[in-house]
Amino acid sequence: MDWDAFIRPELQGMTAYAPGLRAEQVRERSGHDEILKLSSNEYPLGPTPRAIQAMAAVLPELNRYPEGSCEALRKGLSKHWHVGAEFIAVSNGSNELLRLLGQALLRPGDEVVFAWPSFVVYPSVARMYGATPVSVPLTADLRHDLPAMLAAITPATRMVTLCNPNNPTGTFYTRAEFQGFMAEVPAHVLVVVDEAYFEFADDANYPDALAYFDGERPLVVLRTFSKIYSLAGQRVGYGFMPEPLRAAVDKVREPFNVNSVGQAGALASLDDQVEIVRRKHENREQKTYLYACFDRLGIGYAPSQANFVWIKTERPVEVFEALLGEGIIARDFGNAPALRLSMGTPHDTRVIESALERIVDRLGSI
Ligand SMILES: Cc1ncc(COP(=O)(O)O)c(C=O)c1O
Repeated sequence: MDWDAFIRPELQGMTAYAPGLRAEQVRERSGHDEILKLSSNEYPLGPTPRAIQAMAAVLPELNRYPEGSCEALRKGLSKHWHVGAEFIAVSNGSNELLRLLGQALLRPGDEVVFAWPSFVVYPSVARMYGATPVSVPLTADLRHDLPAMLAAITPATRMVTLCNPNNPTGTFYTRAEFQGFMAEVPAHVLVVVDEAYFEFADDANYPDALAYFDGERPLVVLRTFSKIYSLAGQRVGYGFMPEPLRAAVDKVREPFNVNSVGQAGALASLDDQVEIVRRKHENREQKTYLYACFDRLGIGYAPSQANFVWIKTERPVEVFEALLGEGIIARDFGNAPALRLSMGTPHDTRVIESALERIVDRLGSI
């Protein structure tokens, strides 16, 4: 069989998503019992108490298919965000929604504009459906260059995907910048704003894209239960979008794309806002503590609005390996002069601090 001729040609230029290392892969190698897995921007604690209770209650009913339209969760999200349930789509992680939007909209010849570096799934989704990925470099201070992204739009552009705060840099574009962008973006372009880390952002100038959502203009806002809500393993994401687009997504999704345990956990955790706010503050404290540590050790970084930090290093391979040797799993980006480190618990922060002290001591500077 000539598999290359058999499989869709669009897939030939693509590589499969490579997840970060798992704790068990590093435990043996490093000789440390305690491994800090800080490579996937997960929240370091488990789901909220209400979510755990609600998920446990669903287990005896797993012989049944999930509720296919996620009605209760969509209503819960509608109440929480004050947006009609008819504008909300729930998905198997927000990652699935990115793909479903691609499946519903993209045709060969279309162009998809996004910043780079940003979330690796954006170019994959474009390629998957035969569209052309158009990447626009971040500015020197690692932020979305919204004017350059506007300039990259052509009559063939179907979608512009913005990531705010941006993964992997943690940087953000401001309300004024977004307002300017939205005022200029041509009507034939769908703007997809991926706000996977929305709940961590606390800068007064961070824009809530949902404030621009009116159910009419071509704007989609994506959020997820995978990050601050700690439900990454249950795969629940959601998006706000005009109703005809939600109806189109409904046609291309699997009939039961969101599992019942995840639906129950997500809905229940919306009632745990005191814990969510506590997590936001704790995340802020860990970042502030680490910034001071970076400054003391002469380590460059990008101030982050998310639950991870982009650490600048001219020796990413050496530093990545040195961190592994300390039982800390960071995320590397090939040849990029940086590593990304997710925030952990306050205890984890102290472990990172003493590991970095040892590494800088040994390597000179990083
Ligand atoms: C920017 C961004 N968008 C989307 C996702 C996907 O999240 P999920 O599919 O778990 O909702 C991630 C995951 O890391 C992300 O960083």
